[in-house]
Amino acid sequence: MSGLWTFLLIFMSPMAIRGHFEFNNVVCLVRDRMFMDFEYCYLKSVNRTYKYLSLKTKMFRLPVDNCETRFQLRMRENRRVLYNFDFKVDSCKFMRDRKHVIANWVYQTFGPYSNLNHTCPYDHDIVLDKLPVQHLNKLVQSIIPDGRYMMNSTWMVAGIPRTDVILYFTKS
Ligand SMILES: *[C@@H]1O[C@H](CO)[C@@H](O)[C@H](O)[C@H]1NC(C)=O
Ligand SMILES: *[C@@H]1O[C@H](CO)[C@@H](O)[C@H](O)[C@H]1NC(C)=O
Ligand SMILES: *[C@@H]1O[C@H](CO)[C@@H](O)[C@H](O)[C@H]1NC(C)=O
Repeated sequence: MSGLWTFLLIFMSPMAIRGHFEFNNVVCLVRDRMFMDFEYCYLKSVNRTYKYLSLKTKMFRLPVDNCETRFQLRMRENRRVLYNFDFKVDSCKFMRDRKHVIANWVYQTFGPYSNLNHTCPYDHDIVLDKLPVQHLNKLVQSIIPDGRYMMNSTWMVAGIPRTDVILYFTKS
């Protein structure tokens, strides 16, 4: 291989590879089937570049006027928590003031694809509609290092955990 090619490959490969982002799996775990269930919760691959996440709840006790969300982002290799991505937030308060910086970042990743965009109470099912992998790709590119991750969110209503939504993804 000529020196120029070697140079170009070394020079270009980080750019070509950077920010590749892949959904691996999603798990929507119901903790209390008297309270809620999921109508669907899945990843779909349309083609090589278009993969999305969709989910819809079935709420049996509406309205929801209080909710606390525990959020964790962990590397799968060593289960280490990443930066400040381990927090609990009063979701109703957050939807009123948007003051929690990291919750706000997380919310921005999926909020635009959901019907969550209003303050409490919630008197309807929650829908996340076709959140594209590319959208997350753009957002996580500069923030988290390469690796395999588990994003665990636990949703508590009246202080009781009702569901864990766990997303496994890889950034390479
Ligand atoms: C993937 O599918 C989307 C939606 O159907 C389409 O807009 C896009 O052009 C497709 N990409 C490729 C590489 O086929
Ligand atoms: C969602 O919330 C933001 C911030 O409060 C607001 O600017 C925007 O108009 C809302 N969008 C919808 C579709 O309600
Ligand atoms: C997700 O977080 C909840 C609450 O901290 C915990 O009980 C559960 O075991 C976690 N799930 C996984 C797969 O780590």
